[in-house]
Amino acid sequence: MLEEVVDGLAHSQKYLPTKYLYDEKGSQLFDEICELSEYYPTRTEISIMQDNISEICDYIGYNSQLVEFGSGSSLKTRILLEEMPDITYVPVEISAKYLDNSVKELRKQFPDLDIKPVRADYTKPFDLPAVQHKHARRVIYFPGSTIGNFSPEIARQFLHLMADEAGANGGLLIGVDLKKDPKVLLNAYNDDEGVTAEFNKNILSHINRELGADFQPDCFRHEVCYNERQGRVEIYLRCIKDHQVTVGEHKFNFKEGECIHTENSHKYTLDSFAELASERWAPRKIWTDDKEWFSIQYLELKQ
Ligand code: TRP
Repeated sequence: MLEEVVDGLAHSQKYLPTKYLYDEKGSQLFDEICELSEYYPTRTEISIMQDNISEICDYIGYNSQLVEFGSGSSLKTRILLEEMPDITYVPVEISAKYLDNSVKELRKQFPDLDIKPVRADYTKPFDLPAVQHKHARRVIYFPGSTIGNFSPEIARQFLHLMADEAGANGGLLIGVDLKKDPKVLLNAYNDDEGVTAEFNKNILSHINRELGADFQPDCFRHEVCYNERQGRVEIYLRCIKDHQVTVGEHKFNFKEGECIHTENSHKYTLDSFAELASERWAPRKIWTDDKEWFSIQYLELKQ
């Protein structure tokens, strides 16, 4: 962590690795973000699932192995699991603590469900349990438009990795956030109550705690912009006065007005996402909401 943080702060455009937003406090704050009226992605994705649940399950297949990348608390997955008692559910999570807790909860709620948890960093190749039933396939589930947090080039590579993990006859059920009025996007990442600001600044407290650094979160302001050309929301912490920060042996000067970049959230059109996935995946079915703000897509491996 020290190396990654120091490396990011040594760049001319300072940045911090996004994953450090999610310590315990950060994960709690993110759950709060998901409940905000401004943050449309979570509730829109859930309502698309609810409106189309039986069709979505038909595409997955009732005997399939459903592999969720980055399962977290498996909130959205419960909607699927309730309808699909015969699937094998494979949550993949890097955090042993999250994985154990969510599996415990799921076993309580679904005592007869076959659950095979895998602890792994899903951004690198890893082993999955063999597909059991004769005609079953493996379907990768990647909700939340987390694909948008990768750069398009890394997302393309990641779609390859998911194709390799899915194997012959495999499927992909993925949540993809769509381009829309930038005002809606900016509000979603900068709510009135300041929950998102607190979430973004919490990365500094996390680094202070883990690395004994001396960031003063009050010296920074949460800031977002929509980069039209790249089609993404960019999230920053803007320094509001000249000061110095110590991280381990290293000292970093911060100038008033200078930014630390913490996250990008890319938005796609249905066409641009199909293009991104097209080397390995063919779209079979796309579900959206009335406003076409968000999409859930079922893709199949190209032969
Ligand atoms: N995956 C989320 C998204 O891109 C992450 C997120 C939501 C986020 N709000 C944020 C990241 C604010 C940083 C700051 O929608």
